Amino acid sequence: MNNKTLTLIKPDDWHLHVRSGAALKSVVGMTATQMGRAIIMPNLNPPVTNAAQANIYREEILSALPKDSTFTPLMVLYLTDNTTPKDIQEAMDNNVVAAKLYPAGATTNSDSGVTNIVKLYPTLERMQKTGMPLLVHGEVTRNEVDIFDREAVFIDEVLRQVVSDFPELKIVFEHITTKNAVDFVRESSDNIASTITPQHLLNNRNDMLVGGIKPHTYCLPVLKRAEHQVALVDAAISGNAKFFLGTDSAPHTKHDKESACGCAGVFSAPHAIELYAQAFDKAGAMDKLEGFASKFGADFYHLPHNTQTITLKKQNWTVPNELEFNGDVIVPFMATKTLNWRLEAPPLDWTPN
Ligand code: DOR
Ligand code: ZN
Repeated sequence: MNNKTLTLIKPDDWHLHVRSGAALKSVVGMTATQMGRAIIMPNLNPPVTNAAQANIYREEILSALPKDSTFTPLMVLYLTDNTTPKDIQEAMDNNVVAAKLYPAGATTNSDSGVTNIVKLYPTLERMQKTGMPLLVHGEVTRNEVDIFDREAVFIDEVLRQVVSDFPELKIVFEHITTKNAVDFVRESSDNIASTITPQHLLNNRNDMLVGGIKPHTYCLPVLKRAEHQVALVDAAISGNAKFFLGTDSAPHTKHDKESACGCAGVFSAPHAIELYAQAFDKAGAMDKLEGFASKFGADFYHLPHNTQTITLKKQNWTVPNELEFNGDVIVPFMATKTLNWRLEAPPLDWTPN
């Protein structure tokens, strides 16, 4: 590393939404340019609830990749109240790497999610035994719980209990947004890790709400107070391997975001690593980026580090105001803003295989 360029082991994205069909074709090449692998979220409609569906979805992703791409999608099972230990075993036998807990109603396409975690205990038991990680959307959904408190309440009402009932279960507390979550992960055993998004490192709720509502910063779990943002940056740059990269890039059209009932999701896939570089540089911690982006997640999932590298150049550039998406338009995170680092990447060949 010098002050002008930084070469890293190619990163992985441990939490990504790529959708399906034409939408998938619009976005997956962007991640493939930046990342070696990605954990593919299963919240399609209908969701990916068994091994056969995961295999079909994997094939669809592979066939939507740009020519010569070496990108590897890592498939995830969507847990419902009816997921059985046998489903878990079949998923493992088909190279599905994890299962995702969406509390029913917590977010996009979570209607088939879990209504009561206790119903799933036999399934969690099997995951604990086989070493399959549980990926958690950590928010309660009860109407009376304030949206800004839903993650903290989830820790106290659900996660502590699950961790204590399944001490050997590997858990990724996804897209953490609070100091409460940072503290919980730090204090837990090495089985508990977490992903952190670029938007939660670069923004807090003022960025979303002061001076007019900014729908393109709205995601779930929602941005919190500045003190939580500070705790997340601190965790990300700490060199603690429990905290690693997961963008939660979640594409929705501009129209669906700029609406009376705007969809939750921030689209960061095209410039994910540059966004993280922005946050790490601002914190004076560029030397900590490679562990967070390229090593700790792979280590947690017991996968090798990527053999390819990427190079970032210190160079100001402006994020485009919009991009083509699914025959429509999408607004990327930090659109029209200047970022200080740029990925040196060959121009994309957008023609799918
Ligand atoms: O903001 C979000 N968008 N959070 C999620 O949990 C789901 C995601 C999506 O799929 O759009
Ligand atoms: Zn997500």
